[in-house]
Amino acid sequence: MDEQAVGADPGLEASRTAELADRVVANLQRVMHAPDETLQFSVLCLLAEGHLIIEDFPGVGKTSLAKALARSVDCAFSRLQFTPDLLPSDVTGVNVFNQRSNEFEFRPGPVFANILLVDEINRASPKTQSALLECMQERQVTIDGVSYVLPPPFMVMATQNPIEYEGTYPLPEAELDRFTMRIAIGYPPLPDEAQMLSEQATDTPLDRLECVASAQEVLDGIEDAKRVFVEESLNRYVVALLRQTRSDNRLYLGASPRAGIALLRVAKARAIVAGRDYVEPEDIKAVAPTVLAHRLILAPEARSSGLDAEDLVRSILERTPVPV
Ligand SMILES: Nc1ncnc2c1ncn2[C@@H]1O[C@H](COP(=O)(O)OP(=O)(O)OP(=O)(O)O)[C@@H](O)[C@H]1O
Ligand SMILES: [Mg+2]
Repeated sequence: MDEQAVGADPGLEASRTAELADRVVANLQRVMHAPDETLQFSVLCLLAEGHLIIEDFPGVGKTSLAKALARSVDCAFSRLQFTPDLLPSDVTGVNVFNQRSNEFEFRPGPVFANILLVDEINRASPKTQSALLECMQERQVTIDGVSYVLPPPFMVMATQNPIEYEGTYPLPEAELDRFTMRIAIGYPPLPDEAQMLSEQATDTPLDRLECVASAQEVLDGIEDAKRVFVEESLNRYVVALLRQTRSDNRLYLGASPRAGIALLRVAKARAIVAGRDYVEPEDIKAVAPTVLAHRLILAPEARSSGLDAEDLVRSILERTPVPV
């Protein structure tokens, strides 16, 4: 079959991307003991050209998941451990003076990768965090007035641990808005955790994990997901959900228009991974808590009553009528 035939038939595009996602998820399952849904979300984020924040307790496999996804695709990978003394130029790169040529030349920083793992994002100073967030949003780096494009695919996977406060700089919600999705991993069920101990008795399976997808396949998957059809009524459904968050008195800050764009991109990725070239309401519902919750600020009363933002998004989904 020639290239053009593949490009011409939307059904074929949906099935090649579905097959790609299955392959990557299956590869993640080889090393991660986590709910399938969590692993699928990380792949949806990649296909939606998004950035992922993994927030959970220490030692539950956050760094492992990010590394496993990076290893699964044949892309340039770099890793940054955020620390309080890290400078913005340690992320973006710097101009250095070359004595031989008598000119400044740009030395690219770790952000020039396809997949960037930022470990403990809340440990760096706000200045460094915002330098990274700017790169994430603009997909380019500007140094001394010159802009350098970050080649696609470009995905940041950041990890953060929710219980550490000492010496950390929690990301404000406005900055969290730059992350497409937030996921947690959770503790594995007892048999899984026991199996993990035996798997890791002699070596780490992650080190042997092989790549199962090329960068071009990921780029094609991203393009295919972008072309998924969205009916006008579903655009309005997304906006209705956003508006509900803005008028809900349990929330101090509702979802931004950027949140709506992200929600639709992830819903389109979910549709194509399910082998469809059109979005169904279920695609939006299934990803809404993961895409919206981290962008919302609960009102103090709601927070003290123990409500969490994901449940709140679910309650909004329940009461917002789905277009028919
Ligand atoms: N769900 C899991 N599946 C597979 N391996 C796991 C899982 N949870 C923990 N591990 C193993 O436990 C060890 C610690 O995991 P990892 O470094 O990924 O945790 P982390 O969440 O990044 O921790 P920290 O918050 O301290 O950075 C690794 O050897 C990893 O393989
Ligand atoms: Mg870690």
